[in-house]
Amino acid sequence: MKITVVGAGAVGATCADNIARRELAEEVVLLDIKEGLSEGKALDMFQTAALCGFDTKIVGSTNDYSKTAGSDVVVITSGLPRKPGMTREELIGTNANIVKGVTENILKYSPDTIIIIVSNPMDTMTYLSLKTSGLSKNRIIGMGGILDSARFKTYLSLAMDCPPNDIHGTVVGGHGDTTMIPLTRLATRNGVPVSQFLDAETLQKVAADTMVGGATLTKLIGTSAWYAPGAAVAALVESIVRDQKHIFPCCVSLDGEYGQSDICLGVPVVIGRSGWEQIIDYKLNEEEQAAFNKSADAVRSMNSVLSTLDLGI
Ligand code: LAC
Repeated sequence: MKITVVGAGAVGATCADNIARRELAEEVVLLDIKEGLSEGKALDMFQTAALCGFDTKIVGSTNDYSKTAGSDVVVITSGLPRKPGMTREELIGTNANIVKGVTENILKYSPDTIIIIVSNPMDTMTYLSLKTSGLSKNRIIGMGGILDSARFKTYLSLAMDCPPNDIHGTVVGGHGDTTMIPLTRLATRNGVPVSQFLDAETLQKVAADTMVGGATLTKLIGTSAWYAPGAAVAALVESIVRDQKHIFPCCVSLDGEYGQSDICLGVPVVIGRSGWEQIIDYKLNEEEQAAFNKSADAVRSMNSVLSTLDLGI
């Protein structure tokens, strides 16, 4: 198994680190445009192999895509990260050109790979990759919902003073501060609805904190977060390469499911060796479906910006 991570910034490097530590591949290639950055980070990381006990080889590449040849999975993290006060959406102009270029270069050497999009605005970048790559829709997956759900579970665990691993919780819709939908009604603590432990006001606060989870960190750190994004990508990659069939909320192409078409948006999917394999219908109630439709409208209007950017779509 060979996995490429494009972008050796904090998010990309943490993805590569998590993937290597979990030994999800024989080789991880970390690629970046900045001379020496990926080689340096890859070597530093590979020097932890003898300390941490993993055998995955980590290789750096300054923009030489031939080194990525034959990748089974490619994670695209390239592009500008958020600065404090910035929305993910403000990054569209710059990141669309970067993501399109990266996708084209990757496909020259790995024409049948599975692409995971992390670059923001993630829902629109996933749609762009779908429209320009020619890959089957099941092989294009946007990573946002797994991260947002981890943040949701963290805030729920803090509110209930219990371990995050006792909690099931899912965030669907867009990966944006106003477009994501934490499904509070369906969240449980070991099967018991969280509403049995928390009052409506607290639950509302947990949902609100989740929605600005990334922005809160950006404000504190001064740039986008990376530990949870890296771990979330590794969980997704693991379900693919080990064919685990986990249900994860991921941004995928909708064709009538959840009442939406011609859009990539976060819904629960089964993740296995061929990418996303099945969309699971969570049977949203009227209020949740209305929120989902509103989220789709916002993402669709963002997608319409792509046609003004001379990207050939
Ligand atoms: C975040 C970025 C990765 O939510 O979108 O932290």
